[in-house]
Amino acid sequence: MNETSDAEKSGAPGFSLRDRVAIVTGAGAGLGRSYALALASRGAKVLVNDLGSALDGVGGDTSPADMVVAEILEQGGQAAANYTSVATAAGGEEIVNHAIEVFGGIDIVVNNAGNMRLSSFAKLDVRTINEVLDVHLGGAFYVTKPAYLHMVEQKRGRIIFTTSGLGVFGIYGADVYAAAKGGIGGLLTVLALEGERHGIKVNAVAPMARTRMSGDDLYSALPDEFVGSEHVAPVVEYFASDECAVTGDMWSVGAGSVSRLFSARTRGYFKHPGTFGRVTAEDLAAHLDEIQDVTAFTQPSDWLAEWDEVVHLFKTT
Ligand SMILES: NC(=O)c1ccc[n+]([C@@H]2O[C@H](COP(=O)([O-])OP(=O)(O)OC[C@H]3O[C@@H](n4cnc5c(N)ncnc54)[C@H](O)[C@@H]3O)[C@@H](O)[C@H]2O)c1
Repeated sequence: MNETSDAEKSGAPGFSLRDRVAIVTGAGAGLGRSYALALASRGAKVLVNDLGSALDGVGGDTSPADMVVAEILEQGGQAAANYTSVATAAGGEEIVNHAIEVFGGIDIVVNNAGNMRLSSFAKLDVRTINEVLDVHLGGAFYVTKPAYLHMVEQKRGRIIFTTSGLGVFGIYGADVYAAAKGGIGGLLTVLALEGERHGIKVNAVAPMARTRMSGDDLYSALPDEFVGSEHVAPVVEYFASDECAVTGDMWSVGAGSVSRLFSARTRGYFKHPGTFGRVTAEDLAAHLDEIQDVTAFTQPSDWLAEWDEVVHLFKTT
C-alpha cells in the first residue's frame, strides 16, 4: 500500500482525513460508494458496510461491498468490507465493533443505507412501515449509538445522517420513507445539541443523484454527468472533516447546488390572554395571513428558546 494515496495527495490542503476511521453504511453502491471512495481518497480508513440487498431491502450479497473495498485498495487507500444489516441494534454494535477491531477506532459515521418502497397511504401494510423505518430511522440510531459512545470518550467525532427532500417537502406515495427521513431531522437536531459539548459535529445530507433508488426518470431533466453521486460526496467530505464549521445542519445537495434546509417559526399572530382574552377559532380565521407569513420568522436555537420567544411576547406586548 502507498504511504499516501494519489487521491489524498491531490486533496485540498487542510482537508486530510488521514488516520481517521470512517464507517459508511450502504456503501456498496450509489451514493454510499461515492462517499466511501471520497473519504478514502482523503486518507480515511473506511469500513464499507453494505447488506447487498435489492432496492426494497430484500436479500443480501457480499459482492457490492467487496467491489468497493477492492476499488479503494487499488487506489492506495485502506478499507474493509462489512455485510451486516443496519436495521437492528445488534447489527449496529457489530458494525461499529468491526471498525474498531480492524482500524483501531471510530471517528466518522456516515448513515447512508436505505431501502425504498413506494405505496400510497391507503395501501400501506404494517410490514412495509416497519421495514422502511427500521433501516432508515432505526439504522441511524443503531449504528450511531455505539459509535457516539466512543466519540464522547475521545472528545471528537463526526456523524452524518442522510435525509431527503421527500422528508421535508414530500412527494406522492412516499409516506413511510418521508416519515423516516423526517424523523432523522429530529434526531439530527437533538444529537447536534448533545454532541456539541463533546466535540462531535452532527449534520445531514439530503442528496439528489441518479442511482438505483432514484431510477432514471427522476433526474432526466439534466444529463447524466451532472446528476452523479460524485456531486454529492464533497459535502460528506466537508461534514467529516476537522474544518467542518457547522452542526445540526441539513444540506440539500445535487447537480452543483448546495442549500441549507431549515426549520423556522413565523412571527405569527399574538393576542395577549391577560388583556384581550383567549385566542378563538374565529381569530385564527381572521389572522391566517399573519400565522402563515414566512417573510418574518425566527430560528430558535432549541425548543426552550422557542418557549422563551412566547414568554417574551407575553411580557412585552
Ligand atoms: N438517490 C437520491 O436522489 C436520494 C435522494 C434522497 C435520499 N437518498 C438517500 O441516500 C441513501 C443512498 O441511496 P442511493 O440512492 O445511493 O440508493 P442505492 O439503492 O443505490 O444504495 C443503497 C444501498 O444501501 C444498502 N442497504 C439497504 N438496506 C441496507 C441495510 N439494512 N443494511 C446495510 N445496507 C443496506 C443497499 O444494499 C444499497 O447498496 C439512502 O438513504 C437514500 O434514502 C437518495
